Amino acid sequence: MNFVAALNEVAAKNLLVLEERIRQAIADDPFIYEACAPLFKGGKRLRPMLFLLCANSKAACPPEKTMPLAVALELIHTASLVHDDIIDASKKRRGVETANSKYGAQIAVLVGDYLFAKAFQLVADNDYDVQVQLILSKLVKNLCVGEIMQDRSLFEVPTLAEYYIRINLKTAVFLSSCCRLGAIVAEMDAREVENLTAYGSGLGLAFQIIDDLLDFFGDEKITGKPHGGDLKSGVITLPIIRALAVSDDASALRKLVTGGNVTTADIDAAIKIIQATDAVDYCRTRAEAHIDSARVNLPPALKTSVSLALEQIADFVVDRTR
Ligand code: IPE
Ligand code: IPE
Ligand code: MG
Ligand code: MG
Repeated sequence: MNFVAALNEVAAKNLLVLEERIRQAIADDPFIYEACAPLFKGGKRLRPMLFLLCANSKAACPPEKTMPLAVALELIHTASLVHDDIIDASKKRRGVETANSKYGAQIAVLVGDYLFAKAFQLVADNDYDVQVQLILSKLVKNLCVGEIMQDRSLFEVPTLAEYYIRINLKTAVFLSSCCRLGAIVAEMDAREVENLTAYGSGLGLAFQIIDDLLDFFGDEKITGKPHGGDLKSGVITLPIIRALAVSDDASALRKLVTGGNVTTADIDAAIKIIQATDAVDYCRTRAEAHIDSARVNLPPALKTSVSLALEQIADFVVDRTR
């Protein structure tokens, strides 16, 4: 958990409690525990961490008001990954075998469903305002629509605008909702709620752009998920969109990525073409711009320790290797 190591003591303490609560949340059923425990051993916990930091950004917020929702956010995120890995036929996640690879897609669908249901049970059991439930259901709906858009246009090159709609729906809305929920649970004023939401949104766009770069250039041992998976499953992302716009080899690249049957050699060839252009810098510059706008939106009157932690997360998102 290297990024949290940099965070303050409060965050680290919260994280220990969170881990135990996650363990309890998946322990109702022995098969679910067996299937999910290895998966929950990995993961950065970015979403619950953002929520907890925002909830504690003015004054300490009691754990009974925060922990169930923090756990629910991580369960929803993990459920979406379980389903995402079925869709992409991915064999590895968080450094371990995916549920679909281990048990087959049929069981994995149900494991994901179970995690979604458990998340909403936690929220229902803990007297959260209906506003909280609406934000959660909206974020799941957005995530689904983003993934559906992506899956309906596999092996097609999206425009920059289409790419942004997708990454906003599937990732940025989730991160911004975590921040928004923190601000709401802490009963912050409307302006601060909007500012923290905007912080999360910039962070989320940058997060997915870097994730899309890591899919090409990351180290599988560090990311814990397969290298080149996006191209293989037909998902065309920003590094390709940029390379297609500026490369001398654009027509060869277009053929490779839209052909329908992408081999490991094709991925290597695509990477070479990308590297011969400014596409990596271009993606990083865009991610940094979103991080700058995230930073600008941090409300001024937050506790210094939390402000610092949110700044560190912003740095982490662009510098990360996992
Ligand atoms: C993976 O999210 C899915 C994306 C939105 C790119 P994370 O990179 O936060 O996954 P974990 O929780 O650390 O495994
Ligand atoms: C985010 O995008 C996935 C979800 C919103 C579930 P990716 O498809 O890029 O995520 P990874 O790379 O598989 O983690
Ligand atoms: Mg995926
Ligand atoms: Mg990815």
